[in-house]
Amino acid sequence: MAEEWVTVAKSGDVAEGQMIEVSLDGKAIAIANVEGSYYAIAGECPHQGGPIAEGDLEGTVVTCPWHTFRFDFKTGRTLDPPIGNCAKYEIRVSGDDLQVLNR
Ligand code: FES
Repeated sequence: MAEEWVTVAKSGDVAEGQMIEVSLDGKAIAIANVEGSYYAIAGECPHQGGPIAEGDLEGTVVTCPWHTFRFDFKTGRTLDPPIGNCAKYEIRVSGDDLQVLNR
């Protein structure tokens, strides 16, 4: 399948310091706005599927609300190995749209 940028939200939908969850082809994706920069990682925690976007965000690090394992939005990597990493997605702003690269 060819890669394509898919509009998943408006940039105004996610306030600075906040996260939202969007859906891309049935997959949950968590988007964070950190000081005006947007980041996207898998929205389901690799531990037991907790909702990443409902966790606590500190800088680019999110703490899963279920069992408090942490992930960095910059890389998707966990700060608490051996818990797995979250898939990282490319994200861009196009006009007012937030677009994620679907591959
Ligand atoms: S489901 Fe996220 S830490 Fe357990």
